[in-house]
Amino acid sequence: MRLKYSILSRRKFLNFLLGGWAITFFSTLLYPIIKFIFPPYKEPEEVILPLAEFKDMSLYSAKNFSWGSKPGILLRKEGGFVAFIGVCTHFDCNVSWLPDQKKFFCACHNGWYDENGINIAGPPPAPLPKLNVEIDGENIIIKRWIKA
Ligand code: FES
Repeated sequence: MRLKYSILSRRKFLNFLLGGWAITFFSTLLYPIIKFIFPPYKEPEEVILPLAEFKDMSLYSAKNFSWGSKPGILLRKEGGFVAFIGVCTHFDCNVSWLPDQKKFFCACHNGWYDENGINIAGPPPAPLPKLNVEIDGENIIIKRWIKA
């Protein structure tokens, strides 16, 4: 059965399609700009962890903790603890610690970092962001890295 009159004229239909396309196009352009200006992630000033949970870690073992909405990695080394933000500097994948190789590994594009967080192989362009670790009584205080 054919309708006598169309619900939409051809012109209205094309305007609707063009308007939808324009809204989608400009939204995809504006979204990253707005996200850059107003980042949704705010890095914490410090994170306090109970030392009791970490003091029995064996040498060259690592445990994860929350650094804001990102994963942090606390690594036990000879000199004590070191901490990094466990997010790859290539495209923000989470990295994991491989204790047998004593390296951090990013599975997304086969990126490697050494035990000091230095990028040693694969596409990562920069070292892992390092965090300051202090032991204060029964707490481990992890702060943003401040260059001395
Ligand atoms: S995101 Fe880690 S190597 Fe690409």
